[in-house]
Amino acid sequence: MAAATAHGALSCDCRCGIEKRVDAMITPRTAVTAPIEGEGLQLRPWDEGLIAQMAGWREYGFPYHAFDLAHLRDPQKAAAALAWATEPGPHRHFVVCEGDTAVGRVSVNLKDVSGLYIWAVHVPPEHAGLGVCRRMLAALMRALEVEFPGEDFVLSSNTFAEHAHRAYQALGFAVIETRWHFDREIAERLWKVSPAEREPIARHIRFHGGRWEVRTHVLKRPHGVPMETQPGPGSP
Ligand SMILES: CC(C)(COP(=O)(O)OP(=O)(O)OC[C@H]1O[C@@H](n2cnc3c(N)ncnc32)[C@H](O)[C@@H]1OP(=O)(O)O)[C@@H](O)C(=O)NCCC(=O)NCCS
Repeated sequence: MAAATAHGALSCDCRCGIEKRVDAMITPRTAVTAPIEGEGLQLRPWDEGLIAQMAGWREYGFPYHAFDLAHLRDPQKAAAALAWATEPGPHRHFVVCEGDTAVGRVSVNLKDVSGLYIWAVHVPPEHAGLGVCRRMLAALMRALEVEFPGEDFVLSSNTFAEHAHRAYQALGFAVIETRWHFDREIAERLWKVSPAEREPIARHIRFHGGRWEVRTHVLKRPHGVPMETQPGPGSP
């Protein structure tokens, strides 16, 4: 039986190498990344101009370094990223724009066994605090609810990402599972950072079985659950 991983590579449980064939079979249904409008935003497929804008975004650094995009300033890496983000397959990759300004990005795996799997949720520091994350996810999920009626939404998030969790809860996501997870990018950096840099996430990590692990929530939003995209009464 074929199964989709969190990052979307379809693979056969018996490891017979069926992965490429299964990917090819689903490609025609999932190749098109059409723009999505809503909540004052436009979600667009990646292109050269938008990649150039994302390359200039400010960075978060550890422990959110996996999201940072300064490597796209290298023309070869930018070209590779454009090819990756526009290739046919189960993923759709969006750059989120307010007018012509790129203010965020998000990807979705349409073929994950656990549901419509949202990942790469990223709003750079200069555009954070304005509800972009909530609004872009709301616009995305409304469009996908029409296209994939009845399907639930799923995402996973390291437990220290509390800012993101506030947004996910406002959109109707609830934690369904919490587990220890090997995250290669976090683990690599944990060997290098100082104890002071590690301290803010100390209760979310452990050194176990010879490697660093991070605690991760799996969150689910059932189809059709109400979403709140305006700041609540207690917000600044
Ligand atoms: C987490 C992250 C995506 C949040 O992006 P964001 O756009 O600032 O998030 P929100 O949409 O929740 O907006 C933030 C604030 O704007 C306010 N807001 C909400 N809707 C608003 C609206 N319509 N208009 C103006 N402000 C609004 C909210 O009150 C919210 O306040 P809070 O931070 O106290 O909860 C961003 O900080 C990020 O990319 N971080 C690094 C990567 C990361 O953690 N990704 C998620 C991993 S799972």
